[in-house]
Amino acid sequence: MKIGIIGTGAIGGTIAKKMVTAGHDVRVANSDNGDKLQARAAELGAQPSALKDVVNNVDVIILSLPTMAIPTLPENLFSSVPDKVIIVDTSNYYPFRDAQIEDLQNGKAESVWVSEQLGRPVIKAFNNLLAETLLNGGKEAGSDNRIAMAIAGDDANAKKIVADLANDAGFDAVDSGSLEDSWRHQPGTPAYCTELNKEELRISLDKADKEKAPLIRDKAIEELSSRTTYPSHQEIVEFNRNLAIN
Ligand SMILES: NC(=O)c1ccc[n+]([C@@H]2O[C@H](COP(=O)([O-])OP(=O)(O)OC[C@H]3O[C@@H](n4cnc5c(N)ncnc54)[C@H](OP(=O)(O)O)[C@@H]3O)[C@@H](O)[C@H]2O)c1
Repeated sequence: MKIGIIGTGAIGGTIAKKMVTAGHDVRVANSDNGDKLQARAAELGAQPSALKDVVNNVDVIILSLPTMAIPTLPENLFSSVPDKVIIVDTSNYYPFRDAQIEDLQNGKAESVWVSEQLGRPVIKAFNNLLAETLLNGGKEAGSDNRIAMAIAGDDANAKKIVADLANDAGFDAVDSGSLEDSWRHQPGTPAYCTELNKEELRISLDKADKEKAPLIRDKAIEELSSRTTYPSHQEIVEFNRNLAIN
């Protein structure tokens, strides 16, 4: 497939690498349009692209930006992008990083808000895997305890295509429902960055508590930032799993 990725950080960059390895035709854009972008694209094995071009002549566009950067994208970025092009949102809202966004603080599902900012439907995916999980946690299809990724959205066919991309990256996929339902794998929920297999992920999505999730999210950030040493990846996964229990 032809894939355009906006954002080449921890998540966008890792998705780009995985998609290149799987044989897709990948182009990437970030906030630069010069030497830094060229160097990052070369590192990822992808084609560098200006922001205005990364959305043209592709099958899938993956937005991998901090939430606060989404409304700063050019207003007409998607105006000539055909409706059949799938737009994937990987974002997670963290008020300490992304500023106060009233709609999100009032409980609007984050990717519904993203979709409203873009004026286009989106599929929420790749948000419930840590960058390290995405980089090193993939397995062959059919492997025991293969980690699963949640995919939410209102277009069943688009979700199937994104599930195929997840499989290419080494992960199972669980359909987590409509875009309105996508709060079930936002920060502070049991499905969020806890490295679950398909069955465990389905159970966790069901257990999510909409009122508690933002409180758990903020408590988690407070606890992690008060530590004097940075936890290992495995410690973060355990920490996230315990948040869901406590
Ligand atoms: N890190 C994780 O483990 C993780 C896991 C799941 C989901 N997520 C979510 O995925 C999103 C991306 O996370 P990340 O960790 O990859 O972030 P990151 O490492 O900070 O990378 C952000 C990328 O966005 C680009 N960018 C920022 N503003 C832009 C703009 N206006 N136009 C074009 N590009 C812009 C940056 O460009 P430059 O490179 O030029 O600075 C950078 O490449 C976030 O919403 C995050 O919450 C993260």
